[in-house]
Amino acid sequence: MKKTLLFLVSTTAMVFASGGTELLNKKCASCHMLEAPEFHQIPTLKAPAMDAIVFHINLAMEDNKEKKAFIVDYVLNPAVGKSVCESNKVAQFGVMPSQKGLVTKEELEKIADEMLATYPHAKFKTMIKEMQGNDKVNALKSSPFLVNHDGLPHMTKLLVQNWDKSKLGLTSEQKEKLLVIRKETLSAVKKIKQQLKPLEDEVAEAMIDREDPKSVEKQLETIAKLKLEASKVHLKCIAETTTVLSEEQVAFLLPFWE
Ligand code: HEC
Repeated sequence: MKKTLLFLVSTTAMVFASGGTELLNKKCASCHMLEAPEFHQIPTLKAPAMDAIVFHINLAMEDNKEKKAFIVDYVLNPAVGKSVCESNKVAQFGVMPSQKGLVTKEELEKIADEMLATYPHAKFKTMIKEMQGNDKVNALKSSPFLVNHDGLPHMTKLLVQNWDKSKLGLTSEQKEKLLVIRKETLSAVKKIKQQLKPLEDEVAEAMIDREDPKSVEKQLETIAKLKLEASKVHLKCIAETTTVLSEEQVAFLLPFWE
């Protein structure tokens, strides 16, 4: 009798000790999807999927100890400035509520080990690669710019994604200036895009109707001029934005510029 009891106690302890997966299920799965999400599920999630979280952690940090410490700290003391996910996404979800009192540091260490060992699933990485590829193709197809070079970053987008990160460390004075640049850039590009669309449609329609290419030469020339204008706006945005930022901030945002 005593023996069985002992046996029971020790197996229960083992179940708790084996921990990582069960703890993730118990403490995190109510908000975070633990399986790899399907593409169509992503917009319906109430928190980023675990795959997405570890994907971003891996982008931001190399050292496993640092990653683990980040997870343990974030769950207990979440803050928008510490986040490694895109600032605009965090704003969309709302900062994670602290799980202090609901999960211990020891449990979190097991959870973190499990997270780093399991995520991101290969399936998720493949999906992200495809999405990024599609995004790039779609962006190029609808680009209003004359020059679409990888070396010419979209500063407004990059800034939105990193806006609140304490590692970037934007001051409120910088934010104010950057918002003005952003507003001017977006409205100028939007205006050009609106003019481009009907002209490009006319060119395509003329060719579908087998008209003489000469009949749309004027439209083509206007398209070229508009794209030139848009590229001027783009370059001005890069120049103005980098003037507001410090060398370190530029290096943080544009590591590929170095
Ligand atoms: C009540 C819902 C909820 C629970 C429970 C929860 N989270 Fe979160 N978590 C969120 C939301 C929402 C976000 C996205 C906003 C953010 O990043 O702060 C998030 C983001 C995160 C991030 C990403 C931080 C970043 O860089 O933005 C980590 C890491 C994380 N959660 C870990 C965990 C772990 C581990 C657990 C279980 C112990 C857990 N969470 C439980 C809601 C939750």
